[in-house]
Amino acid sequence: MAGTGNEQARKTAEGLAYQTGFGNEHSSEAVPGALPVGRNSPQRAPLGLYAEQLSGSAFTEPRGHNLRSWLYRIRPSAAHPPFVRAERHALRSAPFTDCTPDPNRLRWNPLPEPTGPTDFLDGLWTLGGNGDATQRTGMAVHLYYANTSMERRVFGNADGELLIVPERGGLLLRTELGLLHAAPGEVALIPRGVRFRVELLDAASDGQSPTARGYVCENYGRPFQLPDLGPIGANGLANARDFRAPVAAYEDVESPVEVVNKFCGHLWTATYDHSPLDVVAWHGNHVPYVYDLRRFNVIGSISYDHPDPSIFTVLTSPSDTPGLAGVDFVAFAPRWLVGEDTFRPPYFHRNVMTEYMGLIEGAYDAKAEGFVPGGGSLHNMMSAHGPDRETFDRASAAELRPQKIDDGLAFMFETRWPLTLTEQARDAGHLQRGYDDVWQGLQRHFRL
Ligand SMILES: [Fe+2]
Repeated sequence: MAGTGNEQARKTAEGLAYQTGFGNEHSSEAVPGALPVGRNSPQRAPLGLYAEQLSGSAFTEPRGHNLRSWLYRIRPSAAHPPFVRAERHALRSAPFTDCTPDPNRLRWNPLPEPTGPTDFLDGLWTLGGNGDATQRTGMAVHLYYANTSMERRVFGNADGELLIVPERGGLLLRTELGLLHAAPGEVALIPRGVRFRVELLDAASDGQSPTARGYVCENYGRPFQLPDLGPIGANGLANARDFRAPVAAYEDVESPVEVVNKFCGHLWTATYDHSPLDVVAWHGNHVPYVYDLRRFNVIGSISYDHPDPSIFTVLTSPSDTPGLAGVDFVAFAPRWLVGEDTFRPPYFHRNVMTEYMGLIEGAYDAKAEGFVPGGGSLHNMMSAHGPDRETFDRASAAELRPQKIDDGLAFMFETRWPLTLTEQARDAGHLQRGYDDVWQGLQRHFRL
C-alpha cells in the first residue's frame, strides 16, 4: 500500500511547476479566472471563492519586511470547530527551562528509528532551543524521523516558521499555497501559519516502508531573509532566482480532516469537515519555498586564510541589533580550497554565538570521525571547538595544492542566544559519550 501511495506522490513531486525568486509578489491560480484582478477583496470573489488575508508581519511593518498573502479558497479558515489540546509526543517549544544550560561540547548520533507508524508531525523530536515562542524570539532545533505519510491531517505552526532540512528521504509538501518537493540536499521553508501535509517519497533500504529523516529549525523571530552582500556585490551566496515557490493547487475534499495547530508551544487539534488545503488562487509574498543547496554560490579566499563561516550564510533571521542574527542558516557546500600557507580546515574557535551543526551527507572537513549524517553537534556559547587531532595533524602537514572539498554537505544553525537542551536530548541514548576525547590528544608542539 505504501509503495503505491509513494509512487503517486513521487510522480506528483517530479512533475511540479514552480514560480521562482525570493521575496517576490508571486501570484498563481489553479483555475483560470480564480484570482481577482485589480483588487484583493471584491464584493464577490471569482468562482464563489472566499477571500482571506494571511499576515506574516504586522500590517504596519516597513515595506521591505512586510509579508502577507491573499488566499482565495473554497471555505474561509474561520469555518472550524473549537480546538482541543493534543498529544505533542517529543515536540517541545521555547522557553526551554527543564535543563540547566550546558557549556559542554555535545554530539549526537542519528535519532533511533521509530518503533511504530510515525508521520512527520508525530516524528518531530526537539533537541533544544532558546528565546520564547510567545515573545516571537529565539529558535528551536528539532529532528524528525518518519515512516509514514500524514494522512487526513495537516499541520500549521502559529509559533514561527519551519526550515526543513531533509537528510534522508524526499518529502512532498502539500501546502495551502501549493506543492513543493524537497529532497536531501534541498531545504524547504514553511512560513508561520501556513498549513501543510508531509508525504514521504522514498522507500527505506528494505524497499518496503517509506522513510524520511532530517532536521528542522523553528524560527520564532523575524522571518528568514537573504543576507546582505556588501562588497561581494549584486550576486553570490544564495541567489534569489534559485528559490522556488509553489503554484496554486487545491484539494476539494468534503470529508473529515484533522488540523493540528501549534500555538504557544502546545499542539491543538480540530477536525474540519473539509480539507483546509482548498486555496484555488493566491497572490503575495508570505509563501513557502524550496532551495537546492547545490545552487549555493560558495565564496572563499583566493589568497590566504579563509573567511569566517558567515560567508556561507544561506538565510538569516535578523534581530533588533544590526548584524546580529537571531539565527543564521549556514551551509558548507562543495568548494575549492586554494589558500597558501593556510591551515585549511575550520580554525579553533570560541564563539559568542551558539552553533548547532548537522550533516546531510558524507563527511565534514573538520571532523575525521564520529560526526555522521543525521547526527549533530552543539557548541554552545564560548565553548572551545575546532578540528579534531587527526584532522589537525593531517592539515598541518599537508602539501598545499588546490583541493576540492566535495565529499559532504554539512550545515549550521547559528544563534545569538545559548541553546538549552530538552531533557530527552540531555538523556538520549544516542548522545555520544566522550566527545571531548577528540581534542584530548592534541600534542604540545611549543619549543623555544
Ligand atoms: Fe565555530
